[in-house]
Amino acid sequence: MDSFLLRGGTPLEGEIPISGSKNATLPLLAAVLLAPGFYRFTNVPQLKDVRTMSNLLRILGAKVDEAEHELHIDTSHATHVEAPYELVKTMRASFYVLGPLLARHGEARVSLPGGCAWGPRPVDLHMKGMEALGAKLDLDQGYVVARADYLKGAEFEFPISSVGASCNVIMAAVLARGTSVLKNIALEPEVTQLSIFLNRMGAKISGIGTRTLTIQGVPDLKPADAVMIPDRIETGSYICAVGMTSGKLRLTHADPSHMQIVIETARAAGLNVQYGSDSITVERRNGALKPFAITTDPYPGFPTDLQAPFMALAGLAGGESRITDTIYTDRFTHVAELARLGANIRMEGNVAVIAGVKEFVGAPVMSTDLRASVSLVLAGLAARGETEVKRIYHLDRGYEKLEVKLSRVGADIRRVEGEA
Ligand code: EPZ
Repeated sequence: MDSFLLRGGTPLEGEIPISGSKNATLPLLAAVLLAPGFYRFTNVPQLKDVRTMSNLLRILGAKVDEAEHELHIDTSHATHVEAPYELVKTMRASFYVLGPLLARHGEARVSLPGGCAWGPRPVDLHMKGMEALGAKLDLDQGYVVARADYLKGAEFEFPISSVGASCNVIMAAVLARGTSVLKNIALEPEVTQLSIFLNRMGAKISGIGTRTLTIQGVPDLKPADAVMIPDRIETGSYICAVGMTSGKLRLTHADPSHMQIVIETARAAGLNVQYGSDSITVERRNGALKPFAITTDPYPGFPTDLQAPFMALAGLAGGESRITDTIYTDRFTHVAELARLGANIRMEGNVAVIAGVKEFVGAPVMSTDLRASVSLVLAGLAARGETEVKRIYHLDRGYEKLEVKLSRVGADIRRVEGEA
């Protein structure tokens, strides 16, 4: 398993191009199952999770060709309806194929995704939404077996805001007979991009960008092309990187409109953040970092995916910061690893209380999940001496060429091939 070796302390200077969004690409890759034909996706990030979803599409009978930041997909013969456990267990977003398979073929057999590094990740809301549309769902040896002669438009309110359940149920409703009204839909930009894409395929979704979608079912859809929106979590992670090392970075191909609360928090921490229509410039000179408070919330609130990266930043702020995760109350596996680098963090339930320290000192640390891993890399950028971040296969799921992008702006980081 590969590791990253870092030597901290070098200020970052230069430009980093932001890649397309992983979490926008994955639902769109599921949506291609709704209509046979040819799709061309561009600004696609080259990530392990995208390759995993492409492999799932191949198992379902689609043809997927990967080009430089592009995917060419042909679903003319995508007639299979089973998503196997061996694949779904490696990436929870595979569960997104349930809605499209049910809508297009009237049946689906999708493995339950199981938990992840920081705890259970239920899919009950996905299933309740499908049942509201008239599907019959059973559990059989760890698989969800779904059937529906046809899906029927219905009114359904999500008890909590769920990105994945919103995507899955929207994709089922677009081919249902009749009209659906879906309430408390997630507002994340990735969900909005999916609805816009589905309308380009011929769906009739109104209310996009609000918490209530009205979907008039149509008998069939046609393929469409798509350009992936920028990855707002990658963007926020690089904003933290400047905070860790000082320096100045210009993040290009970004979308600041998805980043408002993140930019506000970075400014509260003492970073100078300016932005244009598609770039963000972040600068930290020798001013000390200031403590800040974060409470994660569904979009447009502070994203839970950035609480770990910002915790690394808080670790060096002059005072006490508080980070509360209301979405995943146990998403704190990075705390023990940051402590190995010298961070002073105590947990009070789902609240991390971080007493800033003067410096981190390099040490070997272990990645546990995607966003925890990047918080360790960020800490390593600041730590005195050498830091080894192990098991970076977690990182390769969601950060395209992280070490290349960081090296190009001055970071002392290199990938070390590990034993298999
Ligand atoms: C998406 O996961 C993202 N993944 C996650 O990013 C992100 O952390 C999460 O949204 C929250 O923003 C993708 O987009 C592929 P949810 P998802 O359904 O859809 C509970 C990353 O690092 N819930 O919005 O699985 C759930 O437990 C990943 O890129 C149910 O109770 O998240 C959580 O508390 C990690 N029942 C809350 O809802 C359900 O059926 C929000 O989860 C579904 C969710």
